[in-house]
Amino acid sequence: MKFISILALMGLSVCFGQPASAAPRLAMTPPMGWNDWAHYQCGFTAQTILANARALVRTGLAARGYDTVTIDDCWMLKSRDRHGDLQVDPRRFPDGMRPVAAAIHALGLKFGIYEDAGYATCGGFAGSGAGKDGGQPHFLADARLFASWGVDYLKLDGCNIQPATGTAGNAAYRAAYQAESIALRKVGRPIVFSESAPAYFQGTPDWYDVLRWVRRYGQLWREGTDVHVYDGKQPERSRFGSVMWNYDYNLQLGRFQTPGNWNDADFIIGGDRGMTLAETRSQLALWSMMSAPLILSSNLDQLSPEAIAILGNRAVLTVDQDPLGRMATLLRRSAAMDLLLKPLQGGEYAVGVLNRSPAALAIELAPRDLGFSGARCRFDVHDLWTGAQHPSAAVLAARIPAHDTDIWKIRPAGACGAPARMGAITRIVPNVPQSRQDSRDYTRCVAAPGMVRECAGTAAQIWRIRPNGTLRSARECLTQIGDRAALARCGPSASQRWTYTLLGNLINRSSHLCLTGPASGQLALRSCGHNVASQIWTLPNDVTVGSGRR
Ligand code: GAL
Repeated sequence: MKFISILALMGLSVCFGQPASAAPRLAMTPPMGWNDWAHYQCGFTAQTILANARALVRTGLAARGYDTVTIDDCWMLKSRDRHGDLQVDPRRFPDGMRPVAAAIHALGLKFGIYEDAGYATCGGFAGSGAGKDGGQPHFLADARLFASWGVDYLKLDGCNIQPATGTAGNAAYRAAYQAESIALRKVGRPIVFSESAPAYFQGTPDWYDVLRWVRRYGQLWREGTDVHVYDGKQPERSRFGSVMWNYDYNLQLGRFQTPGNWNDADFIIGGDRGMTLAETRSQLALWSMMSAPLILSSNLDQLSPEAIAILGNRAVLTVDQDPLGRMATLLRRSAAMDLLLKPLQGGEYAVGVLNRSPAALAIELAPRDLGFSGARCRFDVHDLWTGAQHPSAAVLAARIPAHDTDIWKIRPAGACGAPARMGAITRIVPNVPQSRQDSRDYTRCVAAPGMVRECAGTAAQIWRIRPNGTLRSARECLTQIGDRAALARCGPSASQRWTYTLLGNLINRSSHLCLTGPASGQLALRSCGHNVASQIWTLPNDVTVGSGRR
């Protein structure tokens, strides 16, 4: 059966052969909560978990929506018992798991657990998947056990999945995650399903295929590398670079996201050591601009009052939890700055400006910088960090400290009209080592008149996408000319019309060739390959399933 047909539909939006998810409607806004992993790794007991659960309530963070406490790897023994059942580690949980779950529920919180779709977890503990030397998987029995404890959320990792002889890794992963989703539907309890499968394919052509099928089985998925965990030996080592890295890869994947189906950029480590308060603001603001899950992973008892205030900022959290669930559009990227725009329910927009540089940055944004037209366009502005309100403002002005992110909600006045679909067109440069951790290395921008360049935030790198399928910069249209793409005066020709697919291809409607860009240099038109990095683009307003245009 063909899972998805990729077709052109209405300009550059994307169409699907089937609804994205047949799963129950869970997690219609991004999940929020706490998980032990990024702070404790395997260094925890029931006490650690319960102390953090109580801290969630005491700090008020639970009341702000952080409501699910998840126990990550290492809670079980390496082997199953003689009946084939998982065994809770008695040193960590002397009374078993049931009372821990009950205590978490008694606090008014939900309870999550970690397992793995392979024969062993990443830490080497008993997995739910088929045995190392074959044998039956345990998905259903384990799901029943979890349901009997009152589990509300399952994170299923993807270590140690063995492809059956002759099958590709992608197929083996798909079979395992599908089996778990079927099992979860049989246990008589709604359990949010977090899938780690895509993370095992990041940087490979299969990544995009996996990102297509995970949506059918679960509500959220980790699609890339782990955010850096706390290291007790070097607690002050900066972890901001790893937060930037996760932000960068997550921002490219908006088209896979819709309410009930979330890209997961990994834990919120803001507030913990290795992250300043400015960096904590950045992580929460950026994750919220992306509608990413907000899973805190720090020692909550050690959070400063300032960090609690940031992580619990109600106004920022409403941006994350906005019912439209849209990924922010990258309007502009330069070495120092990202400018983001996110439509919210009810005609408001969130605007975010990340200053990734080590120096303060002064910005002044006019309505046209955000895609709004009209000389009389004004905004009612709400600064979400300070709470300040600026009615009928003609500009957004701010001085943003190093590594900080400012975030506003704006309500455009009638004179503004709807914003243009406008912003950067980017591609990922594969195989950039994470250690580089620099957005300029990870992404490249399409630049007028027809080049791929380092993202510099110039006017030549801002594109307007029209419903008729044209890509415009400086009032000219990106046009196929021979085997190249360059700007030309806009006209009715199909060589200026492009179809955008879920896999990220821009297909010329005249030649049916794919827009192809090297990491740097001239744009060309080539036959479309299967998930070829130089042919995969992220467009402004990169919506697909969420647009209602299936
Ligand atoms: C990784 C996963 C982490 C954590 C760890 C446990 O694969 O990305 O979030 O779950 O395994 O071993």
